[in-house]
Amino acid sequence: MSLCIITGTHWGDEGKGKIVDCLSQNADVVVRAQGGSNAGHTVVTGKEKYVFHLIPSGILHPGTLCLLGDGMVINPSSLLEEMKVLTGKNLGDALKRLYISGKAHLVMPYHQLLDGLMESFRKKGKIGTTGQGIGPAYEDKVARWGIRVADLLDEKGFAEKLSVTLQYKNRILENVFRHPPLLFDTIFQEYRGYGETLSHFITDTSKMAYEAVESGQKVIIEGAQGTMLDLDHGTYPFVTSSHPASAGSLLGAGIGPVNGIEIIGICKAYTSRVGEGPFPTECRDETGEFLREKGHEYGATTGRPRRCGWLDGVVLKYAVRVNSITSLVITKLDILGGLPHIQLCTGYQVGNEKTSVVPLSSEAWNQCQPVYDELDGWEEDISEIHSYGELPAATRRYLEFIEDFTSIPVGIISVGPDRNQTIIRKEYF
Ligand code: IMP
Repeated sequence: MSLCIITGTHWGDEGKGKIVDCLSQNADVVVRAQGGSNAGHTVVTGKEKYVFHLIPSGILHPGTLCLLGDGMVINPSSLLEEMKVLTGKNLGDALKRLYISGKAHLVMPYHQLLDGLMESFRKKGKIGTTGQGIGPAYEDKVARWGIRVADLLDEKGFAEKLSVTLQYKNRILENVFRHPPLLFDTIFQEYRGYGETLSHFITDTSKMAYEAVESGQKVIIEGAQGTMLDLDHGTYPFVTSSHPASAGSLLGAGIGPVNGIEIIGICKAYTSRVGEGPFPTECRDETGEFLREKGHEYGATTGRPRRCGWLDGVVLKYAVRVNSITSLVITKLDILGGLPHIQLCTGYQVGNEKTSVVPLSSEAWNQCQPVYDELDGWEEDISEIHSYGELPAATRRYLEFIEDFTSIPVGIISVGPDRNQTIIRKEYF
């Protein structure tokens, strides 16, 4: 059996898409477990650049089945857009390897609308969401108002569900937000069309994933976002509404906790976050600017500039613990080249106390001041280096520091966006 979970160690944007693409070369199945079109997974292959929001990043490999798993929330309009891009690039055949879980939830027009209205209502306390309707869609799932992908296959049942749900949503829109109601016929016609187009993609992906694992096939579960955006384990309330942590990946893929899973933590060589919320190592100075510009740290979904800072090792250690990470991948290491010194946060100062654990409340997060260890930087451009031994000594020391600090080995190092800008120290499949 061979099952890998790909998990982001910080606030997302760690470069999971590239790593999933690299590992998918030898994988039989890739399952996206949670989230929706809030994610933006970038894959670069030579001159082509793809940004996947819903479709698993393994789709470019001809032998790999790609499943949109049970734990996802799917906006059919965004999905069809992505499918169109693939077809436009002569990859229409790839769609024969794409399957959508009937248990995944649909993102409806009122979700996107409510996402924006609720953000405005929060005023200064806004979350800084991607505006894709993700929170309201998961809210409906938990409150049992959700409409699932399989409901698209039963026109009459879909109409009944939409009718009741929309009456309820319109009451909220009109009475809470003083917003005009949405029209049943418009939504019904739009989603009936999606049902017709997508029907032959809809299936029981959990069964497919289970059978693949059982028969010893190589399976990757592709997590989206990152540990600190996890609804339970992240910097609540500044989180997404799903579970990017590894346990959520299993649930979202519909696979039980089998033995021997490789849990790969994808960790960027520095840290970034987009949206509001605590970020102790954020650099609001020229270092932050350097990282943002050199690292092209602008949201793949929203284009928003990302907040940037030094690698937060406290968060990394926490991610190792809550995800049971067995191996690390360090991405965008090339971006640190040219900095005379590199800082790595190994603790937080809270008042008179130094701590090495993440706090429990938002208030406590706001008091955390990073405590850094300083390492020498390197001048060299490492983006064309293909083996660990060729990396400058200072670069290797940075990686070894991370390994010693977390007690987790680094299996892959990414030194550029392209597939071949990758140093492999461990073969996962
Ligand atoms: P939502 O997921 O759109 O509700 O946004 C909630 C928070 O998660 C916001 O701070 C977003 O910026 C952040 N977020 C959601 N998806 C991603 C992602 O894929 N990368 C980075 N941040 C994300």
